[in-house]
Amino acid sequence: PAAVGYEAEYAAIGQGSVESDHTGFTGTGFVNYDNVAGSYVEFTVTAEEQATLPLAFRFANGTTADRPMDITVNGVLVADNLSFPGNGSWTGWQTRTVDAALQQGGNTVRATAASANGGPNLDSLSVGQPAVTTDWSV
Ligand code: GCU
Repeated sequence: PAAVGYEAEYAAIGQGSVESDHTGFTGTGFVNYDNVAGSYVEFTVTAEEQATLPLAFRFANGTTADRPMDITVNGVLVADNLSFPGNGSWTGWQTRTVDAALQQGGNTVRATAASANGGPNLDSLSVGQPAVTTDWSV
């Protein structure tokens, strides 16, 4: 299925705040994780049917250090210490993708900071295959 996007600012936040002081986010802002291990953002994702789909996290990490996170789906770890690398720019948004099995109906997708630096700034989660863009001009 085509990707469905979920804004982090509307997700459930454990130790973090919604901010908008770095441009380039989608929606109304992004989540700034508190700089502690265990801070998290949890999305509720609806799947039309059971499927393994790409989970694409859009984030910014303006430091030069990795901000790894543990990704769980319905409480089950699907990516341990997934890398969210720094590129030195809080406005230089990046995407990190991991495939995960979803059940039909509601699923919880949680991204939990695995280091004392906390998570990156998280803009959104996109679930599903990226839309195909057709260039009709050629
Ligand atoms: C800065 C930046 C925040 C970021 C924070 C961090 O304060 O402005 O957007 O979340 O660093 O290191 O986590």
